[in-house]
Parts: sequence; structure tokens; C-alpha cells
Amino acid sequence: MNVPHPIPYQGSKRGIARHILKYFPGDVETLIEPFAGSAAVSLAVACHRKARRFVLNDVNEPLIRLWDQMINHPQKIAADYKKLWQNQLGKEREFYDSVRICFNRTQRADYLLYLLARCVKAAVRYNSNGEFNQSPDNRRKGAQPSTMLAQIMGASNLLKGRTALACQDYREIVRDASTTDLVYLDPPYQGVCGGRDRRYAQSLSYDSFLASLEELNSNKVSFIVSYDGRTGEKKFGKALPGSLRVTHIEIKAGESSQATLLGRAEDTFESLYLSSALVERIGRPLDDLEVQSSLLDIVAKKRLPADFLKRPRAVTSKRPKTVIDHILKHGHITTDELKQLYGYDHPPRAARDVREMGIPLETFKVVSPTTGRKVAAYRFGDPSNIRHDRSQGRQTFSKQFKLDLISEYGARCAICRGEYEERYLQIDHIPALETNL
Ligand SMILES: C[S@@+](CC[C@H](N)C(=O)[O-])C[C@H]1O[C@@H](n2cnc3c(N)ncnc32)[C@H](O)[C@@H]1O
Repeated sequence: MNVPHPIPYQGSKRGIARHILKYFPGDVETLIEPFAGSAAVSLAVACHRKARRFVLNDVNEPLIRLWDQMINHPQKIAADYKKLWQNQLGKEREFYDSVRICFNRTQRADYLLYLLARCVKAAVRYNSNGEFNQSPDNRRKGAQPSTMLAQIMGASNLLKGRTALACQDYREIVRDASTTDLVYLDPPYQGVCGGRDRRYAQSLSYDSFLASLEELNSNKVSFIVSYDGRTGEKKFGKALPGSLRVTHIEIKAGESSQATLLGRAEDTFESLYLSSALVERIGRPLDDLEVQSSLLDIVAKKRLPADFLKRPRAVTSKRPKTVIDHILKHGHITTDELKQLYGYDHPPRAARDVREMGIPLETFKVVSPTTGRKVAAYRFGDPSNIRHDRSQGRQTFSKQFKLDLISEYGARCAICRGEYEERYLQIDHIPALETNL
């Protein structure tokens, strides 16, 4: 099913909307998007009938007016776009500049649609006077009018009669959310907050964003947040804190073109956070193994006694410590992650290192967010299976046991059969004594 997407928009979730949809329960009354932008998630949700009603909010007023036109007067806005598109032919650069001047005077929706279709990276940029100042992408003329008409009609058919539009700060919008709704929050990329770009970023502070999420939590409202991410091991943006009791999921958003240029194959992952009310609402049994494993991880993390955790935290050898640190942070580690994040080409070997330290690991299956295939993953096993007789990969033996072996076999190396002073002999694999010279 093709989801319409009339507005090209930097930061659009069009590419990963279908992954986000997997975490929607079957009973959403209203999907609220406080940071709607191009509304990629609402359009995908409407297309798959996963919510009855929609609230599209964005602090950018002309954008919301454009949405009003596209949903309620689709033929008219498509015709206005066609006129602009045709008039530009042969003088695209100058025409863009004059539409930009006109837009800054009038804030008209058709001008904004044309600018979005033609500007560099479809990125909305304003100067400190609040004027749109993005340059045109001179390689593109913007979507053909027939394509634009089809996309706008598609969006209108999905949203007309069931969508409320608002242009407020997100904090006002989330206040009205109820337990039958679902709030999808995709705030501006953290790097642009607090800059001079007032209309796009509107001083969105981390602390007040967290306060709004806490309010949603205390009202038991289901929410999903897109926030930080990473390319390879390089993180971008600040993660949400565990105090919010959110379940963290990573979605592969594509390959980093920058890394490809530098000759490295690195994937970009976007974080998704599910509120505890949503995780409960999805309920069990779940079809989706990915969610299931996240739920099990929550349970597993809660269940692990502090005494047990002391043991993995004390491990210092690099490979098992890498596995352990990842599990402590994310609840489990997949074989894909061991290969892609840490370069361990033989993941079972890394898991075995941990087991050899006496730390129980369970193997289970998850759906890899990167490939969609089922892959093996490891998490801590039953704490009662911890082996206190093992440390740093070797079984420890008592002095008495060594004396017993010596009295039984003599002070000999079991491999070369040579005789040595007792202090040069160590117990390796039972029942041999071998020299450590
Ligand atoms: C990353 S974009 C959202 C993209 C959207 N999910 C999509 O698929 O196109 C963030 C949006 O938040 C809006 N915004 C920024 N600050 C806001 C605020 N304080 N309240 C509401 N919207 C805000 C911006 O205008 C921008 O459209």
C-alpha cells in the first residue's frame, strides 16, 4: 500500500513510519502528533487504519495552514501549485527568489508548498527576523504538478473529516491527551534547539520536554518518542533517561552517506522510546518478537539481584566486558550487534567468554531491526546459575586440591612428564598438572 506524502520535509519519518507502526496497539482513538511536520506517521497510520482520529499540531503556522488547504481544499491547493510550477519554467532561480519574498510578506500556503518542493534538502530555515531564507536546490524543479495532485488527494482522502489541526506549543497539545489516545512525539533534531531559528526550534529545552513526558506518564498516556540516534558508534543527541520508564528500541534508518564516502560501512539508527503505559497496552502474547524481547528485558532487569550484578560489573577483560556492558545498558545483545558494533566476527565466542567467567547467559531469538531476520541474542540467565568458582575465565581450585593431586601423581607436569618444584606447577584442566615455566 503506497502511503501518500505530499510535503518533502527534512526530518520526515516517511522512511521508518512502517517500523513505528509496529508498536501501535489495536485500539487507538486519536493519534496526536504535537510535532507534525510532514505528518508521515499520521499518514501511514491512517493508511493502515490504526487510529480513528488525528490531531496534527506544529508551531509553524504557515505549515498548519498548508495542511488545512491540503486536507480540506485539495484541488485548489494542487491547482495553485501547478500555476507556480508552470510559471517558473525557464527562469527557475529568479522565480524561486520572488516566491520566497512573497511568502515572507504573505505567509501563503501555496508559496510554502512550492518553496518546500524546491528548497535545499527540503529543509525549512528561517533567519533571526523569522523570514524563510533557505536557498533553492537548482538541480530540481520540484514535484511534477500531476504527482503533487495525486499525493495531495491521497492525503486528503485519508485525513479529511477526522483530523483536527492546531498551531500551538507541543506542551499545550499533550495536556489534552487521554488514555485511549496515542501521542507520537518527534521534536526537532536536538542540534537545532536553542539556536536563532525561532520558528523551527521554538526554544525546546530538554528539561521541559522531559517534564511533559513525565506528565504523560503520570496520566498513564501511551506515547512514542523519536529522539536521539547513532551512526555506527557515534551518537547524536542526548538519550532519554531511564527514570521515564521507557522501552528503548533502535530502528535502522539507512546507511550513513558520510561514512560511505570515507570508505566505512556504517548504518544509522534512530531511537524510539515506548512509554510504559503503551508497553502494557500492547499486552501479551505479542506477535512481534522485537517488542516481546523488550518486555522480557524489562522484567529481566528488574529481576536481577544487586548481588548478581556485582559479578558482571567486576569483569575487566575487553571482549566479555563489551558484551556485559551492552547487556547491562540495553538488556540484551544480538549477534548482529556483536558483529556490526564491536567487530566480533564470531559472536558465540564472545558470549562464551562471558559464560567462562561463570556468568549465566541465555540465548534467545529476536527480529533484527537492521535486517528484519530472526537472529540470536544473549541476555543474563537465571542468577542462581552463577558460578562462583570461576573468575577471569579460569576455574579456581583450592590449595588443598593441588596438594592432593601432587600426592596422587607426584610433582610432575602431566604433559611433558618432567618433574618440577611444586611452585612451578599449576592446575589447568583436570586432572593434569602442568608447568607454568
Ligand atoms: C523533526 S520535525 C517533525 C517531522 C515529522 N515527524 C515528519 O515526519 O515530517 C519537528 C517539527 O516540530 C516543529 N516544532 C518545533 N518546535 C515546536 C514546538 N515547541 N511545539 C510544536 N512544534 C514544534 C517544527 O516546526 C517541525 O515541523
